[in-house]
Amino acid sequence: MDVHIFKTSDEAAKYAYELIEKGIREGQIRTLGLATGGTPLKLYAYMRHAGLDVSNVTTVNLDEYVGLKDTDEHSYRYYMEKELFSHMNFKQSYLPDGTAEDLEEECARYERILKTHPVDLQVLGIGKNGHIGFNEPGTSFDSRTHIVELTESTREANRRFFEREEDVPDRALSMGIASIMDAKKIVLLAFGKSKAEAVRSMIKGPVDEACPASVLQMHPNVVVVADEDAASLLEDAGKRHD
Ligand code: F6R
Repeated sequence: MDVHIFKTSDEAAKYAYELIEKGIREGQIRTLGLATGGTPLKLYAYMRHAGLDVSNVTTVNLDEYVGLKDTDEHSYRYYMEKELFSHMNFKQSYLPDGTAEDLEEECARYERILKTHPVDLQVLGIGKNGHIGFNEPGTSFDSRTHIVELTESTREANRRFFEREEDVPDRALSMGIASIMDAKKIVLLAFGKSKAEAVRSMIKGPVDEACPASVLQMHPNVVVVADEDAASLLEDAGKRHD
């Protein structure tokens, strides 16, 4: 893994932005995989202010809650429209549909979309427990897009976006680990002390389903972009940008 460590999350996000901008400008990124949550917000701010032409670029998101409509401000579709899609001219943008009547069929449909639009670069965040997408510890490395029962720790982490605890959905649709690993390149962003242990296990720990992100050690083209806090347990690993 190619690990880059920055003093601040802002500098780190700018570095990730520059990687993506170059890939789009040079035509290497035709399909861009995207994530939600707090981590990519600065990256998305760079992207939407840059005036990039993305009319040839399709986006696919990692995941979506079950049961929330597009118009629900807690849905990931709503988040993506607000942070990125409404500001940019992407060719088309896909997320799993968490309101589909047949969720199994929706997962199969999403896998067909991923087959038609192989991901050139996938943006990832990481959960405190090492999850990627909504793939919690214990998820099979062979998993494809699937229905996920969210763990208490993930529901608790996402609680901050909802008014009441009972409003946090308990299920989601998520690309599986194998679906994520199909991406030609992966850029994983990690910011803040709360991610330090997960980042350490991802990079230094055994490749084990107990830490889903550790599977990335098996991927040939992963760039980890971290701030100093998230990288604080790595000791000598990584290139420091001071
Ligand atoms: C979001 C996603 C999640 C988040 C992770 C970190 O689409 O798939 O894996 O990347 O939970 O969340 P934040 O960035 O809010 O700390």
